[in-house]
Amino acid sequence: MKLYIKFTGQLVHMKNNPNIKDISIRDVKFGKNVTIVKPCNIYECVIDDNTFIGPFVEIQRGVVIGKNCKIQSHSFICELVTICDNCFISHGVMFINDKFTSGKPAGGDKSKWRSTIIGNNVSIGTNATILPVKICDDVVIGAGSVITKDIKEPGIYAGNPAKKIN
Ligand SMILES: CC(C)(COP(=O)(O)OP(=O)(O)OC[C@H]1O[C@@H](n2cnc3c(N)ncnc32)[C@H](O)[C@@H]1OP(=O)(O)O)[C@@H](O)C(=O)NCCC(=O)NCCS
Repeated sequence: MKLYIKFTGQLVHMKNNPNIKDISIRDVKFGKNVTIVKPCNIYECVIDDNTFIGPFVEIQRGVVIGKNCKIQSHSFICELVTICDNCFISHGVMFINDKFTSGKPAGGDKSKWRSTIIGNNVSIGTNATILPVKICDDVVIGAGSVITKDIKEPGIYAGNPAKKIN
């Protein structure tokens, strides 16, 4: 007997098998005293001393995270991101490396991806979105902000697009 379920108006065969890839922590260079709360997906990256990574975080290949950082739950740190020391990345912070410069996702063409560097002592509020930028040391980013341009001066930045508020 064939098993079907009705899904978005179409009949879907229950026996179709999806490609399932396991969540994993693999090929990571760890400093001393790093804490990670599972589940999370963290691979081919560097995480330095005393850094804490909360649950449901993804950290992709090539990312470097410095010492004494806190990466709170549900954040996404994509390829080409570097975070220096003593940073606080709050819940649900999203980094971006593909700006859709040619009007659509770059797909596999990494030449279209751009990098992000976060300096030392940077705190990024909950649910902020960080486009490919450089942020200098000693910066606070407000919750829900969208960072579209480099930040070259210490201070507090908030809004969409984020502006210096203090
Ligand atoms: C950005 C932030 C640090 C500013 O705090 P503050 O210096 O005390 O600023 P104020 O609350 O006095 O607000 C100053 C102005 O900025 C605005 N503002 C504050 N935070 C903002 C934000 N996240 N996005 C947009 N505007 C913001 C205020 O509305 C106010 O505007 P007004 O002058 O027109 O009235 C703080 O509001 C914030 O977003 N912190 C992030 C906290 C967080 O995510 N914590 C996670 C821990 S779990």
